[in-house]
Amino acid sequence: MKIVNSPVEMKNLSITLQRSGKTIGFVPTMGALHQGHLSLLNIAAKSTDATVMSIFVNPSQFGPGEDYDKYPRTFELDSKKAQDAGCDILFAPTAQDMYPPNYSSYVDVAKLDTKLCGATRPDHFRGVCTVVLKFFNIVNPQIAVFGQKDAQQLIVLRRMVSDFNLSVSVESGPVIREKDGLAMSSRNKYLTPHERRDAPLIYKGLKGAKELFDSGERDGDKLIEMIKTHYKSSAMFTPEYIEVVDIVTLEPLKEIKDKALIAVACKTSESKTRLIDNIVLGGEL
Ligand code: PAF
Repeated sequence: MKIVNSPVEMKNLSITLQRSGKTIGFVPTMGALHQGHLSLLNIAAKSTDATVMSIFVNPSQFGPGEDYDKYPRTFELDSKKAQDAGCDILFAPTAQDMYPPNYSSYVDVAKLDTKLCGATRPDHFRGVCTVVLKFFNIVNPQIAVFGQKDAQQLIVLRRMVSDFNLSVSVESGPVIREKDGLAMSSRNKYLTPHERRDAPLIYKGLKGAKELFDSGERDGDKLIEMIKTHYKSSAMFTPEYIEVVDIVTLEPLKEIKDKALIAVACKTSESKTRLIDNIVLGGEL
């Protein structure tokens, strides 16, 4: 596995790969790699000749008071995991190289970036879209793979790719869970033992709602009520939102006619960690 830090070198490398007829599969990450990230690498490797994984804790997607400074940075361990998982090129630029002095261009995916997580993280998706567009231009991938765990991110990025006529195909990988159902996330490291004990409830609530849907319930509010009942049984987290939304517009759905996304965000009470999870009803994202 080759490790590349410079965006210029990465761009030259991707041009060379493409000139020699090789396709590139790209997995952007912020590091602290877990099985969820590595599963995306496997998806990328299945349909491309070379895989590129980026590790970059992107400052522009963190708001004031969020966890940019304490976000886990475990590069040595990550590069070993990426190599063992068959990654060909690990791209790890610095913040100075990605956002040099006088940097001024940002991407706004209007409306979608104000829903769900966007309501409390106003510039988050602006930062995500900006860095991902920069990565697409540097890495030139044919395929980019994102986890369904960050469902809103996936939906916002698909909109950006379509709106800007980008030629990359955005694919998704399923949520990878711990044995007890907790969605794998780099932020799970922050959880206290009590929070970790109760965290599987987040998925239990979602599964309960899906069972209700599968038994014929189509009223979005009834599904939300069922999830709230589950969540009330723990003092370890408070829901920030629980929403049943359209998978393209992210508009709330009172009545589910076709597919729907149930998305939740919770704040834990001891470590104040923000956990997100979701489940798709009636198909895939
Ligand atoms: O999902 C993430 O880890 C980040 O939001 C991403 C896509 C790597 C952009 O920084």
